[in-house]
Amino acid sequence: MSAAAGGEAPGPPRGFAKRVLVTGGAGFIASHVIVSLVEDYPDYMIINLDKLDYCASLKNLETISNKQNYKFIQGDICEPHFIKLLFETEKVDIVLHFAAQTHVDLSFVHALEFTYVNVYGTHVLLSAAYEARVEKFIYVSTDEVYGGSLNEEFDESSPKQPTNPYASSKAAAECFVQSYWEQYRFPVVITRSSNVYGPHQYPEKVIPKFISLLQHNRKCCIHGSGLQKRNFLYAADVVEAFLTVLKKGKPGEIYNIGTNFEMSVAQLAKELIQLIKETNSESEMENWVDYVDDRPSNDMRYPMKSEKMHGLGWRPKVPWKEGIKKTNAIHPCTDKTPIAFAGKLSSKFCLKTSKNEEHATLPLIPTLHYRTLNLSVLNFIFLFLGKDRIMN
Ligand SMILES: NC(=O)c1ccc[n+]([C@@H]2O[C@H](COP(=O)([O-])OP(=O)(O)OC[C@H]3O[C@@H](n4cnc5c(N)ncnc54)[C@H](O)[C@@H]3O)[C@@H](O)[C@H]2O)c1
Repeated sequence: MSAAAGGEAPGPPRGFAKRVLVTGGAGFIASHVIVSLVEDYPDYMIINLDKLDYCASLKNLETISNKQNYKFIQGDICEPHFIKLLFETEKVDIVLHFAAQTHVDLSFVHALEFTYVNVYGTHVLLSAAYEARVEKFIYVSTDEVYGGSLNEEFDESSPKQPTNPYASSKAAAECFVQSYWEQYRFPVVITRSSNVYGPHQYPEKVIPKFISLLQHNRKCCIHGSGLQKRNFLYAADVVEAFLTVLKKGKPGEIYNIGTNFEMSVAQLAKELIQLIKETNSESEMENWVDYVDDRPSNDMRYPMKSEKMHGLGWRPKVPWKEGIKKTNAIHPCTDKTPIAFAGKLSSKFCLKTSKNEEHATLPLIPTLHYRTLNLSVLNFIFLFLGKDRIMN
């Protein structure tokens, strides 16, 4: 474990009203959440645990890195001894668990890494948090656990039917989280959110990827027909949602964090071409689009009801036009920043998976890690995933 830059001097925890552990805090969404928590809750100590994977950047946290109520610890949620020690030394009251492998395309190529980090890592964290008797454990899941739907709107009691390895790993992790509520009444809360966009997102995800490609005078590569629709929430709205769940989320509950705003991937490409290439000509716009092979599975829509969140007083506020302008403005393109991202896109981890398409891929997790996978844990996972439908 290494404590880095800024924050507290070494020694026993000082008097803060609450000590909040945020995992994956150098990633996209959690870095926005941490900045808000550190600024808005000076009496809370915010501990950022992140292993600094390929998609992480501490630059996302530069504005708060020297604050007294912030601390960064580099470490891996998949290391039980380290995680146990962390809970013992940091006296954590609340956990916000974001850390995960998150790129759907990569999950088809590196499915076991996704199971390892997203399921086993979550179980390690959950077990240590339970032992440490933390007062709230918030698990950040995704609308993708529902699988796709054309018309049926999902609510929190809809069955989980994930259709890709990423979504399956998130659904399996949810099962572990829920089981701690069922078995021990350990106060867990699960959130399932729509696609999030905003500044600092790693350019493997569709919006920053299209922005980067267009800024480099390259075409937007669209999987399949491009008719798949996605709901997009601006990062600031999602931060508000997590702060709401932190304050008002009830133990044992699941909350959808969604929006009615949805757009097809083809339409999204058009919007970004209009914004960046400043054209409205259909034929010119077509020149900036390239249709590539579809993913092995690609859900058409994730329509979701978010009434429970509305009941807690949260609603998304930032209109698309405003959010996308802000996102584009923070993705400046110069020759010196070949990829529009605060962190570094290592060419070592770039993989060409189809025509005109580059994906950032994972550094391979050493085989040693797989040996630490407990077989009974794996059996438990496959028991859940083997079901036709995974029920809440
Ligand atoms: N981005 C979205 O649109 C979206 C939508 C719904 C849910 N989610 C969920 O929100 C969470 C955050 O998503 P994001 O897009 O910000 O992710 P991200 O990929 O930007 O960040 C993930 C972070 O987790 C860290 N991490 C990965 N493995 C780790 C490990 N073993 N130990 C410690 N840290 C580790 C990485 O270093 C990185 O900083 C994820 O759980 C994801 O499933 C994301």
